[in-house]
Amino acid sequence: MSAKKRATFGGRLSAVLVAAGSAVGLGNIWRFPYLAGENGGGAFFAIYLLAVMIVGVPLMISEFSLGTATHRNAVGAFRQLNKRWVFIGYMGVLASVLILSFYLVVAGWTAEYMFHSVFSDQVQNPDPASHVAAFENFITNPWKPVLYALGFGLVTHLIITMGVQKGIERASKVMMPMLFVALLVLAIHSILMPGGMEGLKFFLAPDFSKVTAKTILAAVGQAFFSLSIGLGTMITYASYFKQGTSVRGTTLQVTLLDTTVALLAGLMIFPAVFSAGIEPDSGPSLVFITLPSIFSTLPMSAFWSTIFFLLLVLAALTSTISMHESVTAYLEEEWKLSRRAAAWAVTLFTGVLGIVASLSMGIWSGYTLFGFNIFDLLDYVTANILLPLGALLTCLFVGWKFDQKVFRQQLYPDCNVGKEYRVLRFLIRYLCPLSLIILFIYNLGWA
Ligand code: PHE
Repeated sequence: MSAKKRATFGGRLSAVLVAAGSAVGLGNIWRFPYLAGENGGGAFFAIYLLAVMIVGVPLMISEFSLGTATHRNAVGAFRQLNKRWVFIGYMGVLASVLILSFYLVVAGWTAEYMFHSVFSDQVQNPDPASHVAAFENFITNPWKPVLYALGFGLVTHLIITMGVQKGIERASKVMMPMLFVALLVLAIHSILMPGGMEGLKFFLAPDFSKVTAKTILAAVGQAFFSLSIGLGTMITYASYFKQGTSVRGTTLQVTLLDTTVALLAGLMIFPAVFSAGIEPDSGPSLVFITLPSIFSTLPMSAFWSTIFFLLLVLAALTSTISMHESVTAYLEEEWKLSRRAAAWAVTLFTGVLGIVASLSMGIWSGYTLFGFNIFDLLDYVTANILLPLGALLTCLFVGWKFDQKVFRQQLYPDCNVGKEYRVLRFLIRYLCPLSLIILFIYNLGWA
């Protein structure tokens, strides 16, 4: 334990709220639908669910345990347990910085759409093509999306420097239940739109005939991205859990919440996509051109649009906070920087990379690497390479190197080891690492 007294989250409910605040975000509402749309819908969703259950749950339990056992940031946790494995922590910090950079860009888009809902009548336009044009117009503007991304970074920075407890807890507590209700109402409305059933079928009826190794990797990567695992964020958050917070209970609740939000997002987006005649494989723009089409068919469209994008902004904010916090905590504790200096370093670095990511969607879209622009490259490299690799290494570490007594103590503080422990051990030691290794090999085209 460090000599300096570390902050803790308020209690049981708070642990669930902040961890769910990290997990639930643009990953569920922007990234999940666009990937499902690009990868055939139902089959992608089925593989995603499987990945959440088989790899996601054991991994989140592992990360939480590393955090509650060490009370350290991701790098510090590995350093304390076994110096040779500290590189997993560094990989996680790198992934956090890279994800935060492009995440700020998309978060900025949601902020622009929120203001737009109030000040422009574009939301009332019933023509889906006009929403496509409006989106294109916005993201290719050389300065507007950049300013929004930077603004979002600064707000995140402010909350981070206000301290762990006040900032993060408050934001999560208000947003979660409201987001849930809004998604449910919009999903029902969307399903009832003419032609909505077609979309429901696309999203829920799996057609495995087109599944490739790439589809599976995309679904597994999305599971990690959405649950905020594979990069040490949950290690850092669990290091702030109050004593007595249940690792297993928190994992189950967070996973359930996160998966339900993804499900609701799919139910909201795909019926509307088919109803409005939008291409499901439109990529990152999918949600931003589909949502206005839903709102334009609603009475009081400006009201709905404003509320919904406000909730999205908040959901994104609780996620950017978690990424920022895990890097800030690392700089603060390992580099012995003041919290203020650590936070500024993260904000400035991700701000600069965020500018590059934002411009790569517009005036710099001509600069590509392996056929990706910088934005897509950051997204691809983190979710499809860094997170699965981080997940694999974390499973190997917890399964084979982490003291089993300590691990069990984190899961069963009252020493009542549950029956599921053996299943969990099997998953962490064998099934998760093996399936990830096989998946990597297939994707490299070796088999
Ligand atoms: N899970 C968040 C989302 O779904 C994104 C995130 C990834 C947050 C990794 C923290 C760490 O939006």
